Formats: sequence, C-alpha cells, structure tokens
Amino acid sequence: MEYKNILFNVEDGIAVITFNRPKALNAMNSETLTELRDAATVCKKDDSIKALILTGSGDKAFVAGADISEMQSLCPMDAHKFMELGQETLRLLEEMPKPTIAAINGFALGGGTEISMACDIRFASETAVFGQPEILLGLIPGWGGTQRLPRLVGMGIAKEIILGGVQIKAQRAYEIGLVNKVLPPATLMEEARKFARKLADMPPFTLKMAKYSINYGYDLALDNANKLELECCSQCFSTQDQKEGMKAFLEKRKPNFIGR
Ligand code: CAA
Repeated sequence: MEYKNILFNVEDGIAVITFNRPKALNAMNSETLTELRDAATVCKKDDSIKALILTGSGDKAFVAGADISEMQSLCPMDAHKFMELGQETLRLLEEMPKPTIAAINGFALGGGTEISMACDIRFASETAVFGQPEILLGLIPGWGGTQRLPRLVGMGIAKEIILGGVQIKAQRAYEIGLVNKVLPPATLMEEARKFARKLADMPPFTLKMAKYSINYGYDLALDNANKLELECCSQCFSTQDQKEGMKAFLEKRKPNFIGR
C-alpha cells in the first residue's frame, strides 16, 4: 500500500510509523487509520521487524485526535464504521506479538491518547499534552478511551479526565502512571529507539508470551489468569532461547538469543 499520511520506515529490525499530517496536527481521518492498520499488519507479519515505535511529525503534535472535520457530519451508521475502524486498528497494535512504543512528541488528545494507550510503553516529551476532550465535542471517546484509561490510571482519575474534558501535561501523566518516562524533546526519539533496541534483542517468543499473558490475563479472575501464565511460561521451555538464557547465566556470560 502506498502511504500518504504516515511515514513507514524500518531500520535494523525497528519499525517507525510517523503520523504525518502536520497541518492538521496529525489528526486521524479514516484514510490515515487505514494506512496505520496496513503498516501495523506489515509489522505483525514480518519476522524481521522486532519492535515498533509510533510518533508524530513536527514538534507540536503526536496526534490531536480523530479528524473532527471528517466526523462532523457523520450519521450514526457511518460513525459506527469510523469508530470500529479505530477500535480494530488499536486492538491490532495492542495485540501485536512484538513490543510497541509510543514516542509522544506533543498533543496526544482524544484518539491520540487512545493510540498511545494501545502501545505497550509510552515515552512522552516534556511538551506532551494528554486528554480525552471528546465531551467538549458532544461525544465520548470511541477508540477505547473509556476502557483503557481507567485500566491504566484508575476509575477516579479517568472520570476526571473524560467527564471534565481535562487536559494534562506530561509530568502529571507520569505521576498518574499514564506514561513511563518524560524526556526532553531533543532526546525523545533517541531514548525510544534505545529502548526499542533493548526489547528487539530479547528472545522474541518469550516477549510474545509475556505480552500474551499480561494482555489476556488482565481481565480474568486471578486463578484463571495464573493458569494462563502457567501455560505461557511452560511454553517458553520449548525454545532454544530458554536453554541458551539459562546456560549463559550459569556460565556467567551474556546470552546469545537466536529467536528460536
Ligand atoms: N481534527 C481535525 N483538525 C484538527 C484537529 C482534529 N482533531 N486538531 C487540530 N486540527 C487542525 C485545526 O483545525 C487547525 O487547522 P487549520 O489551520 O486549517 O485551521 C490546525 O489543526 C491547527 O490547530 P489549531 O489552530 O487548533 O492549533 P492550536 O495550537 O491553537 O491548538 C489543539 C492545538 C489544542 C490541539 C487544538 O487543535 C485542539 O483542541 N484540537 C482538537 C483536539 C480534540 O478535540 N481531539 C479529540 C477529537 S475527537 C476523538 O478523538 C474521538 C475519538 O475517541 C476517536
């Protein structure tokens, strides 16, 4: 697929998807969502891609939300299609069997916060701003914001942000556990790449099992979740990387993982 609204670059096993509609602060219209879905599918299927970073072009915005000019005149049926496309695309990111990092370089409002929450790790620039301002537009978040935000920061703060249309800066986002790290704008991508590299060098099947156990265990009752973990953990013993990891530890050397 040819991309008009995103940049898609793969280097040394690390893919970077850059939202690239700077004039609209990288707002997501359906065309951009479709491109994101396509690029995410490539990342999922291509075994040479070990980790994925999402960021925004320009220095002002990660993603300023779903495209309001496209949404303005939607009928409920078309709104359903648009929100469903967003939900499916973000779920694809969340279920990606390899790690994903959002490098949030500015405004991450509405769909922008929602995209970042579908990633495994969030690094924010000091200039980043988060929020779910949909209420001010007469709607509620439609790409999982009412579900992922309370899971990440707790019900009380999520309600403050969603019901109040409150926007928060990077430092508060860090304090409430919405982001993993706050970084100066100049080092954001460098740090995101560094962490992506670290993750890309981990044994891939083990990474996949860790994500699987966390993602699918989270909403289960503890007994069932622990059973899921048991299966995922014991599956790791089928890999050469597990043998190598333990052998290397006992031989007091660095492991040489081969991805099998
Ligand atoms: N959709 C469409 N266009 C957008 C946009 C959006 N979400 N956000 C910004 N833009 C456009 C503006 O219309 C403007 O375009 P023009 O130059 O053609 O007028 C351009 O980007 C620059 O924006 P501003 O002039 O508004 O820039 P600012 O610095 O004054 O303000 C801002 C920045 C605070 C981010 C402001 O643009 C803003 O509030 N944007 C909307 C944020 C929002 O409400 N997002 C939620 C969308 S709904 C949603 O996402 C639903 C969902 O769950 C999926």
